[in-house]
Amino acid sequence: MTQEQRSLLGVPDPTRPSPRLSVAADAQRLATVVAERTLGVLASAQQAHGRAAIAFTAGSIMEQVWSVIADSAQARRSDQVDWSLVDVFWGDERFVPADSADRNDGPANRLLFDRAPFSEARQFPMPTSNGRYGDDLDAAAAGYAADLAGARRADDEGELPNFDVVLLGLGPDGHCASLFPGHPGLFDDSGPVIAVRQSPKPPPNRISLSFRGLAQARAVWFVASGAGKAGAVALAWSGAGPVVVPSAGPRGQLETLWLIDEAAAAELPSAVRATAQQL
Ligand code: 6PG
Repeated sequence: MTQEQRSLLGVPDPTRPSPRLSVAADAQRLATVVAERTLGVLASAQQAHGRAAIAFTAGSIMEQVWSVIADSAQARRSDQVDWSLVDVFWGDERFVPADSADRNDGPANRLLFDRAPFSEARQFPMPTSNGRYGDDLDAAAAGYAADLAGARRADDEGELPNFDVVLLGLGPDGHCASLFPGHPGLFDDSGPVIAVRQSPKPPPNRISLSFRGLAQARAVWFVASGAGKAGAVALAWSGAGPVVVPSAGPRGQLETLWLIDEAAAAELPSAVRATAQQL
């Protein structure tokens, strides 16, 4: 299979390191560990590349992660991070007006980026449906790809910044970013950023990194909490392909980690569960 075919189908690249699994006792412990590790990645990336590049997605566990980063103890730890040298991107976004409560970046801003020192970060929000592209979803996706290309650091290779980490939440159906099971977006290799229509989860219009876009990240972390994710986690770790479980596809260039809690790990095959590191 060629790299192009692999990218088109989201089939994992065998030359990339295999995913590793870590399990925390509960959601709070998971959020704490993910927050600490995120700060560590940002600090190391600044040393290595000058600026750090991170891509977020939304969801309940991400909101806990943002809260932990924002809280005072973590803010002290974040002294290691110069927030003015952090570029914040998005893995997916709902294509709705800027003031819509549906925006994925709303909670991130409310919980974290509206506050000092995190407000110093350079933000790359995905376009809104009442912004510079109006309601032209294709133009908005292409525009975001151009924004990303323009934000590449000197040592980034490819079409996008090589995100130091992309944090992907997981849907109960196994979706990640706005790549849904069996949905046409899975097969859209038109660019690293794609327009998604008729999303099975409302709202219908979205912008998402494609499999090709996600493949340009240095690290991909799947973060999942709760019993509602246990079935999808188990499928992804049981050999299901990315058309059935999109989260089975993306692999980072250097690392793919699944950081989950016990409830989300509950249906894993015991042989897989035995490989997990305890967080
Ligand atoms: C969206 C959501 C969605 C979310 C996952 C995990 O764009 O509709 O942001 O993709 O990230 O479903 O969210 P929960 O952990 O809250 O289920």
